Amino acid sequence: MVRINPSILAADFVNMQRDLEAIATADFVHVDVMDNHFVPNLTFGPQMVERIQAVSPIPLDVHLMIDRVDSYGLGYAELGCASVTFHAEASDDPVSLARAIRARGARCGLAIKPATPVEPYLELLDEFDQFLVMTVEPGFGGQSFIESVMPKLDALRATAKHMKSAIWLQVDGGITLDTIELASSHGADTFVAGSSVFNGGDPETAIAALRAQTQHSH
Ligand code: DX5
Ligand code: ZN
Repeated sequence: MVRINPSILAADFVNMQRDLEAIATADFVHVDVMDNHFVPNLTFGPQMVERIQAVSPIPLDVHLMIDRVDSYGLGYAELGCASVTFHAEASDDPVSLARAIRARGARCGLAIKPATPVEPYLELLDEFDQFLVMTVEPGFGGQSFIESVMPKLDALRATAKHMKSAIWLQVDGGITLDTIELASSHGADTFVAGSSVFNGGDPETAIAALRAQTQHSH
């Protein structure tokens, strides 16, 4: 079972409802929250996320690229978002935050930037429902896939094998028809795609093509 989560960072922000309706065949809508501190870009905060949730035909996969997430992260779970992912680099106490997010009924994800090693987090996997390996430097859409992070997925897949509950392994950044098979062959099962869904032709066709392409690596 694979999941295709279009990133609305590549949508038209003033036609958000139209673009959300165009991706109704996807699994989750990936919502990039950026604060201009953790990353050098600014998107939107809880008020916009709440409105996206009110009109979206599919559940929200919120990706927090914000500093001081221990203070501000929980608010997104309290909005009722299906899934909230925060960065390990921005949290002093990822386990406490994960427990609080899950206690609000949301799935919780931990994300790491390309330069952050995965090893310190392998022993925490039970605390999370998904793990996000960034395949670009967070901040902007349309960047090239960084292939050298693939061994992190191998390490996560190997550790996840011994776990009681299944953890979803997500990749985000530079996911296209040319790169999705490689990530899939390394164990990713949840694919975030911005430019390749919104900046071509029909988003629904792009979602189906990405989904089909993952089958080739199995
Ligand atoms: C980057 C964001 C991504 C971004 C991916 O910081 O986290 O979700 O939208 O965009 P593409 O698919 O264009 O690389
Ligand atoms: Zn993202």
